[in-house]
Amino acid sequence: MTKALYSGSFDPVTSGHLDIIYRGAKMFDSLVVGVIENPQKKPLFSVEERVTMLKELFKDTPNVEVDSFSGLLADYVNANGFNAVIRGLRAITDFEYELSMAQMNACLFNKDVESIFLMTSPKYSFISSSMIKEVASLGGSVSGLVPDMVLDKMKNKYIKIK
Ligand code: PNS
Repeated sequence: MTKALYSGSFDPVTSGHLDIIYRGAKMFDSLVVGVIENPQKKPLFSVEERVTMLKELFKDTPNVEVDSFSGLLADYVNANGFNAVIRGLRAITDFEYELSMAQMNACLFNKDVESIFLMTSPKYSFISSSMIKEVASLGGSVSGLVPDMVLDKMKNKYIKIK
């Protein structure tokens, strides 16, 4: 059975992430969306909120599971028997960071695990979670750039923050 991990912060999950998840799920028997807690970032949504949203979004996609973890990605991969790690590439600016991360991870995996890069669809190539948060926090519309459920939850968050 082929099993891939698509990990990230997903704070919040965007339409670009969804596209990568659907495409990745077609390539593997099982795709785990792994939400990572990054202690260096102050998130808009807690890990629990992000996991709940992703579970709801993929409740009808049988080979997609949602999990969360902290610490090294390689430790989680080694402990859970993944064959591959998927990442989305938006532009050349992503490349250097992704290359060094893939090469470092390759040193840390305890078996052959491929890092696989899916090119983001052009219609989503400019979207990042951080830009979504910046625009939404300043009152701009991010409709269509994040799933509707996420849009509603973001509106509630910013109303509470203000
Ligand atoms: O969504 P992001 O923030 O682009 O995801 C980056 C992420 C979380 C996948 C990356 O920072 C990561 O793998 N963090 C886990 C800690 C780790 O393994 N660091 C060493 C990477 S070589």
